[in-house]
Amino acid sequence: MSVCAIIPAGGSGTRMGGIVPKQFQSLNGKPILYYTIKTLQNCETISEIILVIPEKEYKTANADWLGKLKIVKKVVIGGEKRQDSVYNGFCEASQDSEIVLVHDGVRPFLSQKMITDSIDAAREYGAAITAIPVHDTIKRVDTSGLVSQTIDREGLWRVQTPQAFRYSLLLEAFNKAKSENFYGTDEGALIEHLGEPVKIVEGLEQNIKITRPEDLELSKAFIPMLFPDT
Ligand code: C5P
Repeated sequence: MSVCAIIPAGGSGTRMGGIVPKQFQSLNGKPILYYTIKTLQNCETISEIILVIPEKEYKTANADWLGKLKIVKKVVIGGEKRQDSVYNGFCEASQDSEIVLVHDGVRPFLSQKMITDSIDAAREYGAAITAIPVHDTIKRVDTSGLVSQTIDREGLWRVQTPQAFRYSLLLEAFNKAKSENFYGTDEGALIEHLGEPVKIVEGLEQNIKITRPEDLELSKAFIPMLFPDT
């Protein structure tokens, strides 16, 4: 049964500085997105990839990815929020897909195990998200920098991608979210909004979201270990 992977890479990524969005910034001579796509295309279960990119990058991305990589079925333009971008990608997924896997373009260090565990859990539970347990103490801080609350960390998890869903369930979740103008910061939240269960799959600390310049520095150290052939 087929699995479609959607890579939201449609953000403007301004926190990183520079004029190029973070997903296109260079990591050891290649755009960050290159590593993300490489790992996803190495997974035999994934039959197609839909790449979502900002309008400004559309022409270049089409030439760079669509023609050269057969697994990239379509390059589509992103929306205002991440959820809009994923939805735009979802609209292009093959309708006979059994599972849709969503993975942030700016998380190049996912593992094959995370991908297959997410897909397997989505087959069993309908929806699965990768996450890691919180070990630090968590506090709420007000706008003047003073602590207002310590939050019990028992049972708290930091959520990552990949996240995988049965196609039909994600379709239902998007339809409900759209009709109610509901927005979440991940697709798991849309399934919760539907009232359906979401299974946790163990993520990895290495699966960072490259957001700030220091993340890029850390990433440079990961490359020789995780992509020795590049
Ligand atoms: O920073 P954020 O969590 O929003 O980014 C996660 C991923 O979602 C990034 O790969 C980013 O490019 C993508 N995104 C998107 N469309 C947006 C905003 C973010 O595809 N409008």
